Amino acid sequence: MNSFELNKILGAVLGTFLFLVAMHIGAGAIFTPTPPAKPGYEIEVKQEAPAGGGAAAPTAVPIAQLLASANPQAGQTDAKVCLTCHTFGKGEGNKVGPNLYGVVGRAVASEAGFNYSAALKAKGGTWTFDALSPWIENPRKEVPGTLMTFGGIPNEKQRADIIAYLNSNSDKPEPLPKAADNGGANQSANTPNAPAPAEKK
Ligand code: HEC
Repeated sequence: MNSFELNKILGAVLGTFLFLVAMHIGAGAIFTPTPPAKPGYEIEVKQEAPAGGGAAAPTAVPIAQLLASANPQAGQTDAKVCLTCHTFGKGEGNKVGPNLYGVVGRAVASEAGFNYSAALKAKGGTWTFDALSPWIENPRKEVPGTLMTFGGIPNEKQRADIIAYLNSNSDKPEPLPKAADNGGANQSANTPNAPAPAEKK
């Protein structure tokens, strides 16, 4: 084998190698997969109000509309599931979860003596009707990392009843939205009564 032949063989090997590299780069450029923003499958679910007080987007059925016909007595019964972890009475103290007396209109994660998760403390804002609804619907979806390991109340009628009960369970209940305020499909009009700026006891 003379050196010319050896060169040909090496050339062929090198050529093949370069060709493969070029193919790889080329294929990569053409077929670059776009990784999904969130890993996992995209599942269509109804859009919920984002966390935090402030300007929350309206939920599918605005909670204000449901509250207009909510029944706090039914809510008290439905809220029995909360008693495992919460007390509702004034000054009853904290259990696994904080005392919920007067929680409507209270600043998020503000009950004295309760050791809140960093996740809930980071949420900020006030427990308005709008903020409570997605939270009670699915706490761990609304505030990932929360210590409230509770599945939530998916039924919106029950949820509205519970929120009406929470509201009645207070020194100064907020006025419930009236049906007349919501007379129509115009969701953006449903800004429920903003709570009075949190006056602290
Ligand atoms: C398994 C126990 C458990 C159950 C059941 C439970 N909670 Fe909670 N809840 C917690 C814990 C723990 C926290 C504090 C969460 C944190 O710090 O992340 C909390 C926090 C809350 C807060 C926020 C209070 C604040 O001061 O910011 C509200 C409102 C609330 N729960 C409502 C309810 C309602 C209404 C129910 C029943 C429908 C319920 N919870 C059921 C454990 C529970």
